[in-house]
Amino acid sequence: MSRTMSAWRRESYGPAVGMTLEHIAVPVPRRGEVLLRVRATALNAGDVRLMLGDPLLVRPVFGLTRPKHPVRGMEVSGTVVAVGPDVVGAEIGEDVVGELVGGGGLAEYVRVPASRLVPIPPDVSPEAAACLPIAGGTAWQALDLAGVGLAPGTVSRVLVIGASGGVGTFTVQLAALRGAEVWASCGSRNAPLLERLGAVRTFDHRESPLSDLPSERFDAVIDVAGGMPLRELQRLVVPSGHVVLVTGDGGRVLGPVPRMLRAAVLSLGSRRIRPLAAKPRPEVLAKLLELVADGRVVPVIDRAYPFAEASAALAQLEAGHTVGKVVVNAP
Ligand SMILES: NC(=O)c1ccc[n+]([C@@H]2O[C@H](COP(=O)([O-])OP(=O)(O)OC[C@H]3O[C@@H](n4cnc5c(N)ncnc54)[C@H](OP(=O)(O)O)[C@@H]3O)[C@@H](O)[C@H]2O)c1
Repeated sequence: MSRTMSAWRRESYGPAVGMTLEHIAVPVPRRGEVLLRVRATALNAGDVRLMLGDPLLVRPVFGLTRPKHPVRGMEVSGTVVAVGPDVVGAEIGEDVVGELVGGGGLAEYVRVPASRLVPIPPDVSPEAAACLPIAGGTAWQALDLAGVGLAPGTVSRVLVIGASGGVGTFTVQLAALRGAEVWASCGSRNAPLLERLGAVRTFDHRESPLSDLPSERFDAVIDVAGGMPLRELQRLVVPSGHVVLVTGDGGRVLGPVPRMLRAAVLSLGSRRIRPLAAKPRPEVLAKLLELVADGRVVPVIDRAYPFAEASAALAQLEAGHTVGKVVVNAP
């Protein structure tokens, strides 16, 4: 194996146009880690936030003046090519998928804690697998937090706002699989897609404002888009219902924090508003892989880029309007 590899890096915070393809040392797996030969990396809104260092709140953790980790990409599938000390169960040659905290996926190789990884079933492609850890995992955890499909015999009425993006397309599919009646807010060009994924009704957020929807129409509202007044979201759910805030939108400095504090105050009575901080959950990832292998969930891939065009992939995400996921295939 070569000792150097290609990796897309950006040493300072800023837009995708400043990413450069460089040759750097292949990482060595540490205790509990394996080294993956990357097969595919899926990108997320979170990659754009870390690339831009926006909101400023992320910088004390991810690098005060420049990113501690200059390689983006947090959802990765790959083949195990080396195993560090004290790793149990991982085998050289195994195809696996998992979440990288902070980044590292836009490179030929990456080291990952073995405990984060899940084997990819033979019927699932590396591209499809790479879409699951964050986007699929966040959708799953949002529905759990809202209690959708958790009580046997009940049909939840669920509204997904921002349904056409990476998280939204999984949320619609998983809510429908849990037996919910799903309404989806998305651009009209994406309505047929969302209906195929399981939404019984769609409406364009630009033409039909949420204020047109009847009060107490839903058991759960999953807000992946942000920007709507919290009271307006709260009005849409029944008194025992939940609003789950998935998006991390907010101001340039504190990001979602002020909105989360307002949500806590407004949730003192009924109609709870619950901000979600999704975590890596390998057991959920394993269930998602099973659903994809069975054809019950289909990762929607807007575009798969070759490795040489990874900065264009990040630029697409930065521009917004992605439908489903953007994936970068390994060289
Ligand atoms: N809480 C957590 O732990 C967690 C985890 C993962 C992601 N997130 C957050 O979740 C958000 C979404 O992530 P993502 O990866 O799904 O983003 P994404 O793929 O970039 O979402 C883009 C999509 O959102 C749609 N959209 C934008 N504004 C909308 C609105 N007002 N109403 C309806 N649709 C709208 C766009 O449709 P149009 O083209 O029609 O505008 C586009 O299809 C981000 O803020 C991300 O940071 C949070």
